[in-house]
Amino acid sequence: MHPTGILAEPTYSSYLKLDRLLELQHPLSTPEHPDELHFIVTHQAMELWFKVMIHELTRARTYLEKQIWTQALSKVRRANAILGAQIGQMGTLGHLDPQAFLEFRGFLGSASGFQSAQFRALELLNGLRDPGYLEQLRRTHGESLPEPLAEVLSAPSLAEVAAEAPGAAGAGDWLDVYADPERHGPLFLLGEELLEYDRRWTLWREEHLLLVERIIGRSVRGTGGASSQYLERRIGIRFFPFLWDVRSRLTTAAAERDHTT
Ligand code: HEM
Repeated sequence: MHPTGILAEPTYSSYLKLDRLLELQHPLSTPEHPDELHFIVTHQAMELWFKVMIHELTRARTYLEKQIWTQALSKVRRANAILGAQIGQMGTLGHLDPQAFLEFRGFLGSASGFQSAQFRALELLNGLRDPGYLEQLRRTHGESLPEPLAEVLSAPSLAEVAAEAPGAAGAGDWLDVYADPERHGPLFLLGEELLEYDRRWTLWREEHLLLVERIIGRSVRGTGGASSQYLERRIGIRFFPFLWDVRSRLTTAAAERDHTT
């Protein structure tokens, strides 16, 4: 507060808390490795974007529940733009030479993206909630899951709400929506945006795996103890399998029609 009692005008720096933000990069290597700053900033930037994505996708889920399709679509579209930017940012780490990374990797101990709570919160929010996955989370975090994981788990996932969306709107199921896009315009466009979201996550995982292979190679263990085979297996994850499945169902139905005519 300004001494006159009037709120001080914010400046660019005070508004963004830049003095604090730019104080948060502390390379651990001694002597400090000149490439570690880039490594830290890339990860911090990704975590900031994860924060925005959790925020926007929680909004998208609420709009879906209220059947406000245009708003839901616009939030998923924003998440898609962020995923695109993240993939680009991850690529900047491709310029970290393998030998340079080895020179400071040991200072990271067992710290790994594997432990990112926001990444797991996003997976839970998106809809990855099968018993095996939840069991793995409990093994990592113990019975009481940290926030934001517990908070996300206390509400339905985006996938659960999206799966029910056509039924809730009296439009049948996703097959009905896709069989007649004109009739179900907003839902069809929403389905396409959600599918794009799923597709971009697959690209994210592929880009990450390529980065891992480029820097530490295949068949070696990460600082978190996992192999690149683990990351390869995760590429197959789909948050909205019903939207992919609709394609096969349409194609199969068309083939059956052709066969009978
Ligand atoms: C030098 C670059 C990088 C290398 C060598 C690398 C390596 C790895 C490895 C080997 C794993 C498997 C778990 C482990 O044993 O550690 C992993 C997981 C992970 N990394 Fe990276 N990573 C890099 C950059 C990034 C960046 C920029 C992010 C962005 C946040 C990131 C996020 C993650 C996440 C979220 C996981 C867990 C993936 C999952 O469980 O599906 N990594 N990383």
